[in-house]
Amino acid sequence: MARIIGVVSGKGGVGKSVTAVNLAIALNKMKYKTLLVDADLTNPSVGLHLGLVYGGIGLQDVLNGESFEQALVVHSTGLRVIPSSLKYDEKASLKNLKKTLSSLKNYDFVVVDSPPGITSDVSSIIDSCTDLVVITTPEIPAVTSAAKILSLSRKSKNDFLVVNRSTGAPYEITNSEIEGITETSILSVIPEDKSVMESVGLKIPILLLKPSAKSARSLSKITSSIAGKTDSVVEETSFITGIIASIKKILGFN
Ligand SMILES: Nc1ncnc2c1ncn2[C@@H]1O[C@H](COP(=O)(O)OP(=O)(O)OP(=O)(O)O)[C@@H](O)[C@H]1O
Ligand SMILES: [Mg+2]
Repeated sequence: MARIIGVVSGKGGVGKSVTAVNLAIALNKMKYKTLLVDADLTNPSVGLHLGLVYGGIGLQDVLNGESFEQALVVHSTGLRVIPSSLKYDEKASLKNLKKTLSSLKNYDFVVVDSPPGITSDVSSIIDSCTDLVVITTPEIPAVTSAAKILSLSRKSKNDFLVVNRSTGAPYEITNSEIEGITETSILSVIPEDKSVMESVGLKIPILLLKPSAKSARSLSKITSSIAGKTDSVVEETSFITGIIASIKKILGFN
């Protein structure tokens, strides 16, 4: 059975799609049979990140009974992709996602790009996955939302927490504070890197455009850790502040 990896976040715009696309590119490069699914039905972006040209058929149609093959697009690297249709369909929902994904027998990994938030669609994605990559930036609102997502899946999945867009600036929340709030070890930190914006603009994933860029190196390491399920690569001394303790209390972690 395929490992189904959902890339999720509480807060929007934190780097889910960049991570999902590059994770899938890297797994495919490692010769795993990999499928990338864009499950952001409202604001799909996987096709845009990969510069894919595809017909009108997308995940929405597959969920409504269209054949999987009709929607499948092959990227120049050989990566298989099920994009979401750019046409907005207010009736589309992911309640059949689990059934659809569980029928896929020929893949080692299915990477699912998620919309932000904790909505019924995101709950369906979480329910469909064996693994969750939870993305946050080093800011309290994003981390608090990540903690909520992690609390939904607690102990039922392989959870991987990734901090994106870290600059190391003193106003950023530290790794140990993030671990304190989420009660989860950080798998890895992806640094803020202008090359990522360049790669999005050029529609070429950073791992293909600049594999030695600092962000690309982190994304490669994350992929190896997830594929091999190795442990956290981040260490820092613990410093739990009052605000962290109170956020944890509100979230019911104490
Ligand atoms: N490590 C990084 N360094 C610099 N810029 C980044 C980095 N990661 C992401 N970005 C920028 O952030 C933008 C948003 O990233 P992305 O689309 O992956 O977020 P998202 O979580 O999928 O957003 P949404 O919630 O809207 O789906 C990218 O277009 C890119 O410009
Ligand atoms: Mg996205």
